[in-house]
Amino acid sequence: MSKESSATDLEKAAAARRAAEMVRDGQLVGLGTGSTATIAIRELGRRVKEGLKIEGVATSTAIEALAASLSIPLVNFNEISKLDITIDGADEIDSKFNMIKGGGGALIREKLVAIASEKEIIIVDSSKRVARLGDARVLPVEVLRFGWSLAERALTKLGCTCVLRRAGDQVFLSDNGNYILDCNFGGIDDPAGLEKTIKLIPAVVESGLFINLASTLIVGSGQSVQVIDRPA
Ligand code: 5RP
Repeated sequence: MSKESSATDLEKAAAARRAAEMVRDGQLVGLGTGSTATIAIRELGRRVKEGLKIEGVATSTAIEALAASLSIPLVNFNEISKLDITIDGADEIDSKFNMIKGGGGALIREKLVAIASEKEIIIVDSSKRVARLGDARVLPVEVLRFGWSLAERALTKLGCTCVLRRAGDQVFLSDNGNYILDCNFGGIDDPAGLEKTIKLIPAVVESGLFINLASTLIVGSGQSVQVIDRPA
């Protein structure tokens, strides 16, 4: 492991552990997807073994399997109306707590669970905090397989370049059986406006822009962890 990647891993782990400490007995917990969320979920699994009583809603089939392996009881999202707290990662987060998510391909379930959560805790390493979304990373957009090229043409007209996500020599398929277009906008000045525009494109199922959904940001920063509530 390089020095740089181990510093990032330490920041992720510190943020994830702090978030896992916030979970209380009796809570219904949204379980995010990605490497940072996985650390938090493993920590919750450890606490469950020590007697913590929680139920979880998984945001991907991978996390469903992980939670089951850790004996975290799971409930079906359609059988609940709200969650107490969700812990999830992000690809980018700006100072207003707008985010890009979906690097792990779980953006639809992550967004639905975030919308239903009273508290959405976002855990990141310091590289994920950005002045402007989209400067450094692509925006994932989940699209129907049948109409993906129509969506691609419409997205391109908005000023980005799109790449159909692949997994090895296959096109990547989301847990929902859809494709993902990774869109390079080279900087997004109006994330809320772009989110609305993208959602009107036929064949788009969901965009990876998460607006007004994060309540608390926990960021690993060098040797310390910062806990920041969403600015009013
Ligand atoms: C998955 C996501 C992840 O939360 C995001 O990609 C961050 O992942 P990681 O913690 O591995 O950097 O949105 O769809």
